[in-house]
Amino acid sequence: MEKHLSDLYTMSTYAIKAPSSHNTQPWIIFIKDNGFEIYPDFSNPLTIADNSNRELYISLGCAIENICLAANEKGYGEALTFILNENQQVNVRIDLSKGTANPSALFSQINKRQTNRSVFFDREIPDKEITKLTNLKLDEGVKHFIYKYNATEFNQIRSFVREANEIQLADDRYKDELLSWIRFSNSQINQFQNGLSYKTLGVSIIPPFLRKIIIKSQLKASAQNKADEKRMQTSSHFVLFTCEKNTPEEWIKLGRSLQRFLLQTCKMKIASGFLNQPCEVEVIADKMKDCLQIENRHPAILLRIGYAHPVAYSPRKQASSIIFNK
Ligand SMILES: Cc1cc2nc3c(=O)[nH]c(=O)nc-3n(C[C@H](O)[C@H](O)[C@H](O)COP(=O)(O)O)c2cc1C
Repeated sequence: MEKHLSDLYTMSTYAIKAPSSHNTQPWIIFIKDNGFEIYPDFSNPLTIADNSNRELYISLGCAIENICLAANEKGYGEALTFILNENQQVNVRIDLSKGTANPSALFSQINKRQTNRSVFFDREIPDKEITKLTNLKLDEGVKHFIYKYNATEFNQIRSFVREANEIQLADDRYKDELLSWIRFSNSQINQFQNGLSYKTLGVSIIPPFLRKIIIKSQLKASAQNKADEKRMQTSSHFVLFTCEKNTPEEWIKLGRSLQRFLLQTCKMKIASGFLNQPCEVEVIADKMKDCLQIENRHPAILLRIGYAHPVAYSPRKQASSIIFNK
């Protein structure tokens, strides 16, 4: 029994390595006799960037996928049940059954995967590799569209990113929220163990007295567009993840699919970064729906992929603050 519990604990720790918007790590995990109960953590919501909590549930789905891959690694198959609680929040129960699953080659990528915000190498991903990514099996209701650099859709999305930057960075509430998640020093990283560390943003440590000046100059649409333009120009493809019903259950499924996609790119030594602003700004997401041939589906996640040097890893919370028994 003790061995079983320690196996369950080990599986649950893989959730910690999942990506999450602003690195909020919005998950709480309870270990049960035969699996897990996983709750979204609403204690630090992104009320401006993610006012519907879609990204929160997508992040939760990424964490759930990691746990499932870790369970498969030990030979357990998983059955998921979505539970609507009294606050209209969706919790997930994972029931495991021994001997019903095979290990996946994606498991070994969980600790290696990272979000890459650097300027890429400006090298195209071969069509053969793109076909593999196109054919990846996704969860029910989830569909992804892959657009090559300079294709009509690629350039349309490029201008949507710029437009979304203009809207978000004209909003002081958006800027304040973003700022509250930036960790400017090692002591802040150690203190919070979440958020966007200066290392992953590609900047050096900013002394307190300079923070306001630097941020004021950088948190502007013109500066953001300049930086994003370089990122987009050197990317090989955009990948747009969409969903059909736009419900929390579907967002969790999208997160699971997204995580498999990210692990697969990592396995292929392909770098990936998020440019999710056009999905976050509703008027721009609506424009994308009208403009791109995406079957009237809801745009939820925009990635750019290509080749790049590895970057610094993001901080993570301690297991003891997110994993509990029963
Ligand atoms: C739903 C979701 C939305 C995200 N949106 C963005 C984004 O718009 N821009 C960005 O740079 N990173 C974005 N990220 C990446 C997170 O910031 C990143 O996962 C987090 O900082 C942890 O870093 P890691 O992925 O390297 O582990 C997003 C991640 C998720 C799961």
